[in-house]
Amino acid sequence: MLVLGIETSCDETSVGIVRDGKELLACVTASSMEIHAKYGGVVPEIAAREHIQAMTPTLEAALEQAGIDWDSVDAIAVTYGAGLGGSLLIGVLTARTLAIIKNKPLYPINHVEGHVYANFITATSLPGYSLPKQQPSFPLLALIVSGGHTQLALFANHFDYKLLGQTHDDAIGEAFDKVAKIIGLPYPGGPSIDKASVHGNPLAIKLPKAQMKDPYAFSFSGLKTAVLRATQDLVGVGHDFPSFQLAERLSEGQKADIAASFQKTAIETVVDKTLKAYEEFSPKSVVIAGGVAASKELRQQLSNRLPLPIEYTDIKLCTDNGAMIATLGCYKAMNNQPTADPYSLEIKPNLSM
Ligand code: KG4
Ligand code: ZN
Repeated sequence: MLVLGIETSCDETSVGIVRDGKELLACVTASSMEIHAKYGGVVPEIAAREHIQAMTPTLEAALEQAGIDWDSVDAIAVTYGAGLGGSLLIGVLTARTLAIIKNKPLYPINHVEGHVYANFITATSLPGYSLPKQQPSFPLLALIVSGGHTQLALFANHFDYKLLGQTHDDAIGEAFDKVAKIIGLPYPGGPSIDKASVHGNPLAIKLPKAQMKDPYAFSFSGLKTAVLRATQDLVGVGHDFPSFQLAERLSEGQKADIAASFQKTAIETVVDKTLKAYEEFSPKSVVIAGGVAASKELRQQLSNRLPLPIEYTDIKLCTDNGAMIATLGCYKAMNNQPTADPYSLEIKPNLSM
């Protein structure tokens, strides 16, 4: 089963080609991140225009990387939600058109479920990928941490999962991005904070972990505000001092301390809840998924605290990519899941898990 996956939910135009839900044949990603970085966040209108430019060359490059033509492709998978409307439209319209003219079945993919399936890729002859040795086993506990989502899900099997809890306000990646902005680090905030933290003291600033009634619910807006207040105190200004003027008053050492203290607290919060779920549900495997799964701190804390061995996938497969979409497409095709009508598949910007 050879599936071509198309991902355009945010600012990455990506096409992946995967065989049998485990072998990566191609993954080509064009990102408009550099343009958005100038604005401090993704500009939806620009993202959509860039997808139009990048779509055809990315498709061609992926087929070439895999060394195949359309005859070898058994099915097409595409992200139809959640994401930015204009961005999703380009991927979905491309996939619908290709499904019609190449006469291939079309599988609609939930972006967040797709992130989890990046962990099922265990083989490739492409250079530069470090992959898990084994596929995860069910029951499978998934910690999904990205710019738009923070949730814990328990998979009894493929297509049979329960959402244990999710964030009540900001996603963890969003908190990384907002804190980076406060201390003047470049967008996207996750990798910037990861880098700056190396030189900082994670115990320099005491920050609170959100206390929630529901043990698997998350909240990050309070932590972000606590970082703002602590930064204002550090600089010696009042709590009404504008946040965008704080960064210029911070030394590099202070920025590193704030980054490290925030990162430690934010990551500890998600690791605490993952451990609690592990103890309650005794899964056979635990995986992490989404952009924040690239975090070195997250990987370190989980490996130190989880009582079972955990494998992590390549960072290129943690952030948005077409390979994860193709992988879930393979499982849908191999398990006779319903296909979409290529003449009518609509985008679902607010699709949830
Ligand atoms: O999954 P993703 O590529 O897009 C969404 O679906 O949201 O995740 C992007 C998020 C951003 O918020 C980014 O700051 C965060 O992932 N991120 C990281 C790291 N690399 C990316 N967060 C923490 N540490 C990292 N190394
Ligand atoms: Zn994502």
